[in-house]
Amino acid sequence: MIDGKPSRTAFMTALQRGYHNANASEPKILNDSLALDLAGVSFVEAKFFIDNLIKTFEGLSDLETANTFMHRIDCAVCMRSRVVEEKLLLAQQKNIKQLVILGAGLDTTAYRRFDLTKGLQVFEVDHPSTQIWKRQKLKAANIEIPENLKFVAFDFEKQTLSQAFNVGDIRTDQVTLFTWLGVQMYLTDQAVRATLKVLGRHPSGSELIMDFISPSYVLEGGIAEKSVDYLQKVVTDMGEPVKSKYYEHELEAILQESGFSSVKFLSAKWLVDNYLDGNKAIFDMPDNATSILSAKI
Ligand SMILES: C[S@@+](CC[C@H](N)C(=O)[O-])C[C@H]1O[C@@H](n2cnc3c(N)ncnc32)[C@H](O)[C@@H]1O
Repeated sequence: MIDGKPSRTAFMTALQRGYHNANASEPKILNDSLALDLAGVSFVEAKFFIDNLIKTFEGLSDLETANTFMHRIDCAVCMRSRVVEEKLLLAQQKNIKQLVILGAGLDTTAYRRFDLTKGLQVFEVDHPSTQIWKRQKLKAANIEIPENLKFVAFDFEKQTLSQAFNVGDIRTDQVTLFTWLGVQMYLTDQAVRATLKVLGRHPSGSELIMDFISPSYVLEGGIAEKSVDYLQKVVTDMGEPVKSKYYEHELEAILQESGFSSVKFLSAKWLVDNYLDGNKAIFDMPDNATSILSAKI
């Protein structure tokens, strides 16, 4: 993150969710009908942004590969939020009392899915610069802040999460659903481990949904590999370089050391079969591709 500036990758992922909502055919992976309003951009502007990225990726390979690559990134960004919505559907049954959205960016769950967050205390924990900017954007878009939502300002690299939980009144004795989407990669290994240690102390039944970047994250052969490298350059230019990557077995070991009892890596095939009625066309990834996990305490 650039000192004093909001996260630009948070803006990018909101555009991706909004673009998907406006452009994908039904049934969609996610219906984030607030993303573009909150980001303050029109569909045409979002499309321009995405088309520009595709053009750059095309320069590294060819148009078809570039389109596939960008489409897959958009789908992955939407799918991680979809997984959270699916988990929230089961919140009552699982006695979940708190939803803690870590590195919330322009997440719209709390302003859009009242049906899923009713009865939960929701917290958005984010870098102070991003959070101030988001609150301005909420105001500009006339989006009301629901009564069950609290903002907690926190810098993963400079503060301890326990302090933030104390200050923000996030209870450590309640069953909690944590989401940590699109954040791990921008944090140092030290901050990732410190965060997971604090989360792992929550009561049994608590769960974490996160996505992650693996050193072996390569999409079908050498051409797309260049695009992955380029994407990393794009986020670095945005002031948010990738600082940590984990193989699945490494992340699983860290989660277990931190107090999580079961870790499930959600493959594309599992996601399609469980959430999309087996319709692969909606989430067209290699079957075994995985960048999202759920970990239970
Ligand atoms: C790519 S955005 C993801 C936002 C959102 N979770 C989503 O899925 O669209 C990365 C988020 O991580 C947050 N972040 C990055 N570094 C951080 C830090 N050191 N402390 C707190 N938040 C940080 C940014 O503020 C931003 O909200």
